[in-house]
Amino acid sequence: MTDERPYSPGLEGVVAAETALGYVDGERGRLLYRGFRIGDLVEHGTYPAVANLLWTGEWDPGHRLATTAVPEAVLTALQGLPDDAKPMDALRTAVSVWGATQALAWPPTPEQARALTAFSPSALAAFARLRKGQQPIDPDPSLDLVSGFLYQLNGERADPATARALDAYFIVGAEHGLNASTFTARVITSTRSDLVSAVVGAIGALKGPLHGGAPSEVVEQIHTAGSPEHAEEWVRETLAKGERLMGFGHRVYRAYDPRAAALRKVAESMTRKPDWLDLAIAIEDVALRVLAEKHPERALKTNVEYYAAPVLMGVGLTPDLFPATFALARHAGWTAHVIEQAGANRIIRPDARYTGPAERDLPA
Ligand code: ACO
Repeated sequence: MTDERPYSPGLEGVVAAETALGYVDGERGRLLYRGFRIGDLVEHGTYPAVANLLWTGEWDPGHRLATTAVPEAVLTALQGLPDDAKPMDALRTAVSVWGATQALAWPPTPEQARALTAFSPSALAAFARLRKGQQPIDPDPSLDLVSGFLYQLNGERADPATARALDAYFIVGAEHGLNASTFTARVITSTRSDLVSAVVGAIGALKGPLHGGAPSEVVEQIHTAGSPEHAEEWVRETLAKGERLMGFGHRVYRAYDPRAAALRKVAESMTRKPDWLDLAIAIEDVALRVLAEKHPERALKTNVEYYAAPVLMGVGLTPDLFPATFALARHAGWTAHVIEQAGANRIIRPDARYTGPAERDLPA
């Protein structure tokens, strides 16, 4: 029973799909959505325009998408959750219940993607209010998606700079190649299951700590480092203990993560930036220098999580909402991959190398 076919744990280096959506160039630190540079999209686009680009291939900078109402069945499900339920569990539940109210047909379409992407921010905002004993807020159709989400979360309109900062975060989080949650969504779609089931599975995959990232840990580390004067000592002590610096290193990027570069600009231009942003910038300089010294063989640069942390804190989100907010942003990419997979579908069914006992008889 020898099987000589190549096996790649984690499918690393295996090309398992073709995509025209996102191009992650780890060597040169480039991220392109349908050919457009991420930095340009952040500067000139909005999340609804970028989502529409991913779904349809058309660049319409004026494209708008407002949040939509949460159906009664979803509110009932959210109200039934324990008070300490995790936002990612609540979002996964809400999307699943919403799917049961929609009966989405095959094949998945941009309209289905749009409807789900417009619903999920309302659901997360409703959950965040219900757990504090507050009433959910109805969508305001005059607001674009990210402003609408902040309004339904906080009960007041965000100032334009704050909404713009979170919109930029949504753009950089929208798509990133065949990562684990996107692959999950494509596997589910390949069975001709529906778009909502694919996104429920993707949220489940993103929930894992190896994937969803932890900008909240970045915040903790920056606070522990304390001051620019203490930064170098703290960095060296942390590495000496064998711990990792959060917000540095990446499986694919060997250059500075272009998403981190875009978010750093956003963080620096925010009206209500966290008071520790300057400290974060000082620590980053030291960390990059010490990491280069310790790992000359492997380029360890700043990743997206480092500057996601000040942006998300700056717009007033609590750290426990960070992963679910990332999931809202990734809706555009997940659903675009679902549509793309369905358009040239073949069921995804790899093989496993058998390592169990040879054929044998049951004991008498
Ligand atoms: N701090 C210190 N050392 C690091 C770091 C880091 N952030 N990242 C990698 N290294 C070291 C490793 O300890 C290892 O050293 P060794 O060979 O002496 O054992 C070497 O660099 C290579 O590391 P790998 O684990 O092979 O790197 P990999 O590509 O598998 O890991 C990962 C990538 C998980 C992102 C890693 O860099 C890490 O843990 N970073 C910190 C957590 C983080 O910022 N996560 C967010 C990632 S972005 C995202 O998820 C959207």
